[in-house]
Amino acid sequence: MLIRSFRIRFIIIRSCIISLIIILFFQIITFLKNENIHLQDINIWNKEYRLEKYFWKNLLNEDKDLTDEQRIKKIELIKKQNTIKEFNWTNIFFDSYTRKLNKVYEKNIETTYKYRFKDRQPNVSQEIYEVFEETLVFERPKFCSSSRVFHPQCPYSNCQWSCEKPSMNDKNIRRASVFHHVDMNETEMHRKLQHRSYTDIWILWIDEANRSISHLNQYNFNWTLSYRQDSEVSIGTYGVLIPQDKNKFFSNDNLYNNSNFLQLFINRNIPIPDMTIENRILFNYRYRHKHALWYVSNCGPKRRLKYYTELKNYYPIKAFGSCVENKCDKNKQCEGEQSYLALFYLSFESQTCKDYITEKFWRALYYGMIPIVLGPSKQSYLDLGIPQSAFIHVDDFPSAKVLASYLHRISNDYFLYRKYFQWLNQYEAFFDINVLEPIRMCELCMRLNMQEYQEHSYYRNIHEWHRISC
Ligand SMILES: *[C@@H]1O[C@H](CO)[C@@H](O)[C@H](O)[C@H]1NC(C)=O
Ligand SMILES: *[C@@H]1O[C@H](CO)[C@@H](O)[C@H](O)[C@H]1NC(C)=O
Ligand SMILES: *[C@@H]1O[C@H](CO)[C@@H](O)[C@H](O)[C@H]1NC(C)=O
Ligand SMILES: *[C@@H]1O[C@H](CO)[C@@H](O)[C@H](O)[C@H]1NC(C)=O
Ligand SMILES: *[C@@H]1O[C@H](CO)[C@@H](O)[C@H](O)[C@H]1NC(C)=O
Ligand SMILES: *[C@@H]1O[C@H](CO)[C@@H](O)[C@H](O)[C@H]1NC(C)=O
Repeated sequence: MLIRSFRIRFIIIRSCIISLIIILFFQIITFLKNENIHLQDINIWNKEYRLEKYFWKNLLNEDKDLTDEQRIKKIELIKKQNTIKEFNWTNIFFDSYTRKLNKVYEKNIETTYKYRFKDRQPNVSQEIYEVFEETLVFERPKFCSSSRVFHPQCPYSNCQWSCEKPSMNDKNIRRASVFHHVDMNETEMHRKLQHRSYTDIWILWIDEANRSISHLNQYNFNWTLSYRQDSEVSIGTYGVLIPQDKNKFFSNDNLYNNSNFLQLFINRNIPIPDMTIENRILFNYRYRHKHALWYVSNCGPKRRLKYYTELKNYYPIKAFGSCVENKCDKNKQCEGEQSYLALFYLSFESQTCKDYITEKFWRALYYGMIPIVLGPSKQSYLDLGIPQSAFIHVDDFPSAKVLASYLHRISNDYFLYRKYFQWLNQYEAFFDINVLEPIRMCELCMRLNMQEYQEHSYYRNIHEWHRISC
C-alpha cells in the first residue's frame, strides 16, 4: 500500500518534470527560430547592401574614362528626350493667374503703400487694350519692332503693344503706359504728366531689388511690373515652373534598362512613378562630377562671398568670375557646359529681398543641378510655389561645414539625391528670357481684361513699397 502510493507520487512528479522539459524545449526551439529569422534578415540586408555597393562601383568603373564632352552629350540627350515641347498654355495662364490672385487676397496685401478706390463711372467694355512703351528699357527700345510681344496662347488676344502714343486720349479707353525705372527723363515725365488721363494706367517696370527710387514717388504709378508677388504683373520674372500635362509623350529610346538597377528599388521598396524621369535623374547622378558650381559677376555683396570661401574648405566648388580662380570670358557656352557637369549650383542672391529669386536659381533647376540657396528666407521660395524638396537652403544648416557634410552624403547616396528631383514628375522649369517675356506680357494683358473698369489704384509711396521686405 505504502509502496503503491509512493509509486503513484513518483509517476506524477516524473510526468510533471517531463512536461516541463518539453515545454522548455519548445520555448528554446521557438526562441532559436526567431533568432534564426532575424539573423537571416540581416544576411539578406547585407547581401542587398553589397549588391548596391557593387552596382554603383561597376557604374563608376564603366564611366570613369569618359571625357567631359561625352558626359555632357549623355545628359543633354536624356534631357531632350523627356522635355515636353507642347503645353496647353491657355490653361496654364488661367491657373497661374487665379492661384496668384487667391494668394494675394489670402494674405491681404493691401499695404498702406497702395491706395485703392472705386470710381462711379459706368463700366465700359473695351475691345482693344493699347500698351505703350513710354521709355527705353536699359537705354534701348524693347518691343517696338517685335511682332510677338504677348504669348500666342494667351487667353486674351486683344492687347496691342505700341511705341507711339497719340497725345489725346478718348476718356472711355483704358490704356496702359510702361515706364522702365532707370530710363525716365524728368523733363519728359513732367510733360507726360500733363497729358495723363484719369483712366490711363501707369506701370513702373522694375526687376532689380533694393534700389532707391524715392524720386519716382511723385508719379503715383498705378501698377508695377516686377519680381514681387504683390505686383500687379509678376509671373515669370526670372523663371517659372509649369505643371506638366498628364498625357505627356516621351520617347523611350536609350532608357537605362538594367535589371539590377530596378532590383535596387524593389529591395528598398521604393516606387518609381516614371521610368523616363528616373533615367534622367540617374544620368544626372551618374555623369556629373561631385562638385558644386558657382558663377559670380558681382563681388560687392560680402555675405555670399564669405559663405563660399568657407564652404569650399569642406566641399569642392568650381567657381567662375572676376573675383575667383576661374574665368569664363563671357563665353556663354562655357557656362552652359559647366552646368551639365556639376551636382550642385550655388544660387546665392546678391540681395535678401522677399521674392527676389533670380535666374541663378532657375538656371540650376533647368540644367538639373540642385540649387543651394542663400538670400531670401525659405518661406519666400515656398510662397513662389517652389516645392520644398527642389532646393537646399543654407539657413537650414548651422554652419557651412555641416552643410558640406550633407552635400557629401547626397553625392554618395543616389536615393537621397533623387529626392531632390521628385518635382520633375510634376513640373518643367523655364528660365530663358525669350520664353518668360511673352508670359509676363500675357499676365499684363489678362489683368487689363479682368480688372473691373471701376477699380482704381495707385502707389502712394512706391519707394517704401519697393524697399519694404529687403
Ligand atoms: C487648351 O485647353 C482648353 C480647355 O481645356 C481648350 O479650349 C483649348 O483649345 C486648348 N488649347 C490648345 C492649344 O490645345
Ligand atoms: C461693373 O462690373 C463689375 C464686375 O463685372 C460689377 O460688379 C459692377 O457692379 C459693375 N458696375 C456697374 C455700375 O455696372
Ligand atoms: C531729357 O529730355 C529733354 C527734352 O526732351 C532733353 O533736352 C534732355 O537732354 C534729356 N535729359 C537727359 C539726361 O537725357
Ligand atoms: C527592358 O528590359 C526588359 C527585359 O529585359 C524588356 O522586356 C523591355 O522591353 C526593355 N525595355 C526597354 C525600353 O528597352
Ligand atoms: C540694401 O542696400 C543698402 C545700401 O543701399 C544696404 O546697406 C543694405 O544692406 C541692402 N539690403 C539688402 C537686404 O541687401
Ligand atoms: C492712376 O493713378 C492716378 C493717380 O495718379 C489716379 O487718379 C487714377 O484714377 C488711377 N487710374 C487707375 C485706372 O487706376
